[in-house]
Amino acid sequence: MHTEIIEVKEKTLKVSKMAETLIASEIIKLAGEINEKIKQGEKIYNLTIGDFDPKVFPIPAELEEEIIKAYTEHETNYPPADGMLETRKAVSIFLKDKEGIDYNPATEILMSAGARPLIYATYQTLVQPGDTVLFPVPSWNNNHYTHLSHAKKIEINTKPENHFMPTAAELKEHIKDAALVALCSPLNPTGTTFSKKDLTEICEMIVEENHSRSEHQKPVYLMYDQIYWVLTYGETEHFNPVSLVPEMKNYTIFIDGLSKAFAATGVRVGWSVGPARVIGKMKSILSHLGAWAPKAEQVATARYLSRTADVENYLNRFKKEVHDRLDGFYDGFMALKAEGFNVDAIAPQAAIYLTVQFGLHGKKKSDGTVLATTKDVTKYLLEEARVAIVPFSAFGDSEDSTWYRLSVGTCRLDEVEKVIESLRNALKRLS
Ligand SMILES: Cc1ncc(COP(=O)(O)O)c(C=O)c1O
Repeated sequence: MHTEIIEVKEKTLKVSKMAETLIASEIIKLAGEINEKIKQGEKIYNLTIGDFDPKVFPIPAELEEEIIKAYTEHETNYPPADGMLETRKAVSIFLKDKEGIDYNPATEILMSAGARPLIYATYQTLVQPGDTVLFPVPSWNNNHYTHLSHAKKIEINTKPENHFMPTAAELKEHIKDAALVALCSPLNPTGTTFSKKDLTEICEMIVEENHSRSEHQKPVYLMYDQIYWVLTYGETEHFNPVSLVPEMKNYTIFIDGLSKAFAATGVRVGWSVGPARVIGKMKSILSHLGAWAPKAEQVATARYLSRTADVENYLNRFKKEVHDRLDGFYDGFMALKAEGFNVDAIAPQAAIYLTVQFGLHGKKKSDGTVLATTKDVTKYLLEEARVAIVPFSAFGDSEDSTWYRLSVGTCRLDEVEKVIESLRNALKRLS
């Protein structure tokens, strides 16, 4: 009885309004439900999570080696608040060599425990309560970071014909009100990228807006999340604001790190580069959170990034393996489409995601029930095809969107055909 009273009290305890109304990540929730099914012994093709199965996609062997070595060298105390200087220097060289952008390791680079704390710190540094954040949907978690910052959001609904990337014309309407524009390329959830022309136009629009603001006003900043940028395929090229429009160096905060580029999501090494003043403030915020990348991992990252031939070898192999899966799924969807099923996909460009479409609203299952909503369709695919994918509604798109993110980070190559066959059979059973 005593326990019951305590439990009831627990449920009614007041917390802050922000915490009360914060939505936990929809994707992690969905993945939890799927993992529960898998635990119960069901065979599910789990293509939901933006993570890697280390048995399929391990981190680079040399990085692993360096991490272990750094621990044996007892690199286990606090790192400096902005990260180890040798790591910041290695990041600076990596960015200069591979992307042609120049950042001073002493003042313009900040290390952190993966990218998330850096995104949080960017928002906290640049956005006041009540300020407006402008971002496209679908996109990854900007709605939650805006909420954490007590800010207002303006969401731009992007179009499939633009590969779900926003355009300058779409953003321009709201730029006057914005404190921060949050962009990501390659984009999670779509695996698509900005073209040179589209990103240049957006940057020029931001520069123009800042020229029109007075010195006493906060400029509009751009958070440019490029955590997937090394993972581009075929003809696709990654572009960044600062190379395209140099003045953007004053206003751009890059979000970047090892997590996706080296299948190292659990290693927790991320970095931001940007104007020294902004990076300095972000460093202060992170120092209070203690969200540093572990020191041994930072030492290892510095040493690994300097082994440029090993880095290139790893990336070539890793990218080919991811690309093969994305291409395999794309070809499979095109085959299903050619067979007359109402599905579609956008050709793979980057990251570990394929954008796919299931236009199944209104279709009837064999028991006569109708797939009325996107939730019904998602459930049908899970239960009848045993394929789990994430609807774009989990990324802020409308609840009835027919588009989905298919992630290949945990997928073996031989599963691609099995997934397509399983989808084919489930689609055939609909009328
Ligand atoms: C676009 C984007 N940015 C940042 C992150 C977070 O990366 P990290 O694991 O380094 O915190 C993710 C993770 O899914 C992501 O998709």
